[in-house]
Amino acid sequence: MTKNTHLQLDMTTILADFPALDQEVHPGKRLVFLDSAASSQKPRQVIDAMSAYLRHDHANVHRGIHTLSERATAAYEGARDKIRDFIHARSRREIIYTRNATEAINLVAATWGRANLGPGDVVVLSEMEHHSNLVPWQMLAEQVGCTLHYIPVTDTGELDLDTYAAFLRDEPVKLVSVMHVSNVLGTVNPVADMIRQAHEAGALFLIDGAQSVPHLAVDVQALDVDFLAFSGHKMAGPTGIGVLYGKRELLDAMPPYMGGGEMIKRVTLDGSTWNDLPHKFEAGTPAIAEAVGLGAAVDYLGALGMSNILAHEQVVVNYALDRLSEVPGLTLYGPSPDKRNGVATFTLQDMHAHDVAQLLDVEGVAVRAGHHCAMPLHQRLGVAATARASFYVYNTTADVDVLVDAIFAARKTFGFGG
Ligand SMILES: Cc1ncc(COP(=O)(O)O)c(C=O)c1O
Repeated sequence: MTKNTHLQLDMTTILADFPALDQEVHPGKRLVFLDSAASSQKPRQVIDAMSAYLRHDHANVHRGIHTLSERATAAYEGARDKIRDFIHARSRREIIYTRNATEAINLVAATWGRANLGPGDVVVLSEMEHHSNLVPWQMLAEQVGCTLHYIPVTDTGELDLDTYAAFLRDEPVKLVSVMHVSNVLGTVNPVADMIRQAHEAGALFLIDGAQSVPHLAVDVQALDVDFLAFSGHKMAGPTGIGVLYGKRELLDAMPPYMGGGEMIKRVTLDGSTWNDLPHKFEAGTPAIAEAVGLGAAVDYLGALGMSNILAHEQVVVNYALDRLSEVPGLTLYGPSPDKRNGVATFTLQDMHAHDVAQLLDVEGVAVRAGHHCAMPLHQRLGVAATARASFYVYNTTADVDVLVDAIFAARKTFGFGG
């Protein structure tokens, strides 16, 4: 059965934009790429923008007065403006380039955290977090003696908001740091309400947007969020570039993260003073071509329209949840379709998730297997590993059909019948 999902997007054009999708990974087996939550494929618009920059315009930024340096600086800073517009930040100074979401979260923990937290202070995280939003806070807690509290995950795969409210009411919470969309369950957390509650309790709020910014419109001003972290490579951009958004007054007050060139105003042998935002947090030669690529990715997603992307993905994910629930012995994880997006995570009888992923690869289907950098969540779910199909704008319901057929084939290989 093959359904078409036309909606507002022209899938023929979109599929033609992603050269990596046009291949067979084994003889006669078309690539069905269902691993975009780990890293998305790149459209030719991004590849071409990076190639053009590297072929014609590359020089170091901010340093030269020659033509190429001026062009490189314009391209690098122009991409920052595009990202500012994409997430609706007030100022380009609020957009800090990092290597990825992980580095963005580490930056806040190491700078804001060390300057503002000590014994008695509480940071609230959740049990569904990616390790990127757990380990930096655990490292910080060891250093400064603050306490970490974790919002539990309910049996339906949602955050236990009563416990969250109790933390805010009963504990000296200084910061809440929570993912917007779960990379395992697909849960879309109600961050707007959670931010309002945190602010009423006098706490700041960081959103880990690694799985939301690529898929849905995130407006930092409408949310009134204090920090937002995300990665370029999950949103059609290249690896090696990510973003920390922070409210300007917070970033201004924070000490720098790394020391070196670019982040200083003046250096003497007795000490240094810091550059203005955003450069204070961008020590050393940055990832210039990668920033250009992320700017092109933002252009690409913006032209498609984030609401169209979300609507398309929801059709595909809902179709996947429906079809996967037909498979005997398959357990799906995560909340009801109206509360989720992006991924369908499952186990198949007592087959190990790695074996499932390997058998799906034989059929050309790329899924991820393991704990997906969310070991505490897997402990909560009571499984060591799961298989995850994740979807992006270039996936269709036809991909889902190939996935489901491949799962039936895998069951057969394991002797579970057709
Ligand atoms: C929810 C979430 N947060 C953070 C990250 C870390 O992203 P990166 O490895 O690009 O820093 C990921 C990556 O899978 C993620 O899914």
